Amino acid sequence: MRIPLSAPDITQAEIAAVESVLRSGRLSLGPRLEEFEQAISDYLGAKHAVGVSSGTAGLHLCVKALGIGAGDEVILPSFTFIAAANALRYERAVPVFVDIEPRTLNIDPGRIESAISPRTRAILVPHTFGIPADMREILAIANRHGLRVIEDACESIGAEFHGQKVGTLGDAGVFAFYPNKQITTAEGGVVVCRDAGLAARMRALRNQGRSISDDWLHHSEIGYNYRLSELHCALGIEQLKRIEAILRRREEVARLYRAHLKDCAALELPPFEVPGCRISWFAFVVRIRADRARLSRDALARELLKREIETGRYFGPIHLQPAYRSSTPPAQPLHVTQSIAARTLALPFFNQLTEESIAQVCDVLQEALR
Ligand SMILES: Cc1ncc(COP(=O)(O)O)c(C=O)c1O
Repeated sequence: MRIPLSAPDITQAEIAAVESVLRSGRLSLGPRLEEFEQAISDYLGAKHAVGVSSGTAGLHLCVKALGIGAGDEVILPSFTFIAAANALRYERAVPVFVDIEPRTLNIDPGRIESAISPRTRAILVPHTFGIPADMREILAIANRHGLRVIEDACESIGAEFHGQKVGTLGDAGVFAFYPNKQITTAEGGVVVCRDAGLAARMRALRNQGRSISDDWLHHSEIGYNYRLSELHCALGIEQLKRIEAILRRREEVARLYRAHLKDCAALELPPFEVPGCRISWFAFVVRIRADRARLSRDALARELLKREIETGRYFGPIHLQPAYRSSTPPAQPLHVTQSIAARTLALPFFNQLTEESIAQVCDVLQEALR
């Protein structure tokens, strides 16, 4: 049987919750949206939560609602999912790519200040694979230069930075619930923020530019349909009830991988401890060591697939994507990004992955490496 890269964890409770929405007759803009937003706020310790149709939609709303527009520059790493840069381009803002730290694969705070120009408006910070970025340094830089901070927490619900949940530290934070995430709503996302005005603006923008005080079919500005249906919210509410058990299980899966791979000389494993942080395990991404450069990551992935094991090549740097290559040259050399991106391999990772399957993946991987 094929071992997938990821798999959602759906129980009878989720099925019953979705069925009950279907039977209720109220499929959108109903009580489940409010309940889901409240549950997310409570869990994260966030002041406001705005449910949206995807993480990408959430990132776009942050950019738009923070007033970032044509020609404004936003600093972000190239080693992340393309949605972050796309959200900037929707508003004709300019992504300015900087390098990452080799250990956490997060934006390197030491690289940010040299990329700041008079046009810089914000720093967009992904918490890559569920590992918190160094928010203390990043917020200090942002304060010194009067910049906004958008956290891309799409891969990191539940991760903590010095006791505070990631996504709640910057001006706005975005979470995503695609089925490969720690919790899923099938498709969907949520934006959190402290500022009531910002939240109200995002609520209006997600619903065709209609603010709460507007009548039906009265639109104060041009908006979008970025709404999250009641079915998606019902699923999310049930998933969120189990989040602690889910995060603990994922930590256990990561621990089992580590136990099986710790003596593998050809691989570097992801960090298990980041001082002052709680990791929320999104994926288990190993790297072929730089001194084993003759080993091809892609050949390794093909070999595993032949043995019915799916893997992921997270991430192809954004500045090398055909959609960005010619239009958005990086502001500085991205040596770490380019060296690491060619060597990363995400192994199957999900709640129900058994120890037997983990052992199988690790045996096949080590055999292929030999
Ligand atoms: C880091 C990161 N940002 C943004 C997104 C976009 O989320 P969505 O797929 O829900 O639009 C994802 C999800 O894949 C992600 O991993």
